[in-house]
Amino acid sequence: MARLAATEIAALDPYKFMAVVGKRVIHPGGRESTESLLARADVTEASRVLDVGCGVATTAIEIARRHGAEVTAVDISPVMLDRAAANVRVAGVEDRVRVAAGDILDLEFDDGAFDVVIAEAVTMFVDRRRAAAELSRVTRSGGRVLATEFFWRRAPSDEAREVFLGQVCPGLEFDTVEDWTAIYGAAGLADIETETGPFEMMTPRGFLADEGLTRSLAIMGRVAVRPAHVRKMAWLMPRMARAVPYLGYIVVTATKPG
Ligand SMILES: C[S@@+](CC[C@H](N)C(=O)[O-])C[C@H]1O[C@@H](n2cnc3c(N)ncnc32)[C@H](O)[C@@H]1O
Repeated sequence: MARLAATEIAALDPYKFMAVVGKRVIHPGGRESTESLLARADVTEASRVLDVGCGVATTAIEIARRHGAEVTAVDISPVMLDRAAANVRVAGVEDRVRVAAGDILDLEFDDGAFDVVIAEAVTMFVDRRRAAAELSRVTRSGGRVLATEFFWRRAPSDEAREVFLGQVCPGLEFDTVEDWTAIYGAAGLADIETETGPFEMMTPRGFLADEGLTRSLAIMGRVAVRPAHVRKMAWLMPRMARAVPYLGYIVVTATKPG
């Protein structure tokens, strides 16, 4: 995998930075929200699954391993695609997981091409209504659409809002549970259900639960060996700490009507 220059590391968004230092679970609800999502996905060995904004392909690999299904994993970021392809190779699931470039706002697939369409922590970075409509379009009638999003678990302080949406994730927009339900409903989806939980991805407990002790130590090691990584982490962590008490994840699950 390509080694990034210090200036490139400084410019990475927090999610790509986490991928670069080897984190595998890169969405607000961690493995817990993925489990909740998969429990409602109705994936079988015969399912055609699409994971949009797949990051480093952790969920795509898990679906291929657990269900033997064929998964198409797309992302817009070359950094993520590079790591996703490497992880798929190492996991030995190249015959079942295809990694490709793709934009959630303009997917290259035909209408109804997939039985199950997943987008964990992606829609919120773009035009949310257009993205939800694209997810719905490529899902067959009777198929499932499942997404993970951010929301404010409690009204944020002005400082927490400014730090998170102004500095940590500029451009990110997220909504209340009701707003997310309306966005997916407007995309033509039905039977919309939601589940919420706290943002734990970057808390010590959540980090350990998601990555396990060995990988957590390896990630810390990768941060420690490069000054550019240390500087990025030192910038990120205090800001995250200010926003975490107010942040939560929401899993949205829905069906494309017949
Ligand atoms: C928070 S990460 C989540 C990654 C992965 N879904 C996971 O849960 O680990 C957001 C991902 O969305 C991708 N992304 C952002 N905008 C996108 C777009 N327009 N189309 C496809 N992927 C996009 C980013 O490159 C990144 O991999």
